[in-house]
Amino acid sequence: MTLSVVPIHKQPQFLRACCDLVNSEWKRSDTARLRSLESSCDHLPVSLILIKEGSLIGHLKLSIIPSIKEGCFVESVVIKQDHRGQGYGTVLMKEAEKYCKNFLHLKVIYLSTKGQEKFYHKLGYEECAPISIYGSFGVSSQVKSFKDNKCVKKVVSENAPMAPPLPVHINNSGNSLKTYMRKEL
Ligand code: ACO
Repeated sequence: MTLSVVPIHKQPQFLRACCDLVNSEWKRSDTARLRSLESSCDHLPVSLILIKEGSLIGHLKLSIIPSIKEGCFVESVVIKQDHRGQGYGTVLMKEAEKYCKNFLHLKVIYLSTKGQEKFYHKLGYEECAPISIYGSFGVSSQVKSFKDNKCVKKVVSENAPMAPPLPVHINNSGNSLKTYMRKEL
């Protein structure tokens, strides 16, 4: 079986299929999604795609974390529905880690997830404190407010609605309902 993981800007013929795959999981306008995919470059951001025998079956995006120069944020990890549970997500993540370490010379990968913690635990990711994926001052760049005695952080991410971003609620023990995870390379 021929499997390869490549940056999408090296294989632009897969842009349309990739847009459809990512939008089948997280609906956005095709224009916005294509613009995001077309921003892929040799540094960050970069969208990596998993190709099996000439067909696109997976995608993930590596984004800049302005406050953590030696790291990146992985998001929009998706495997085509009928290919899930067969090890392809693992292949894609492991190849992305090699790409980060050997090509981008990064030392750490961050992500956030709501429901896929076990998948990432198996790959060696560990829970960590929430990080800001925009702005240059880490946590202080996040917009914080209080509502119903709960801290609310507004975080913009790849699949958040365009405007306004969805607030991410922080529970009483200080944990975001999204789990932030990291792995040192
Ligand atoms: N819960 C528990 N275990 C899981 C889950 C899950 N949701 N998903 C995978 N696993 C386990 C598998 O059972 C397998 O275990 P094993 O090694 O003991 O057999 C192991 O994790 C590896 O599974 P793969 O087959 O490699 O995973 P798959 O190819 O299905 O890809 C993925 C996983 C990407 C999460 C896929 O299911 C998917 O596309 N889901 C929908 C989109 C999504 O939720 N993406 C993640 C968003 S978070 C982010 O982007 C950072």
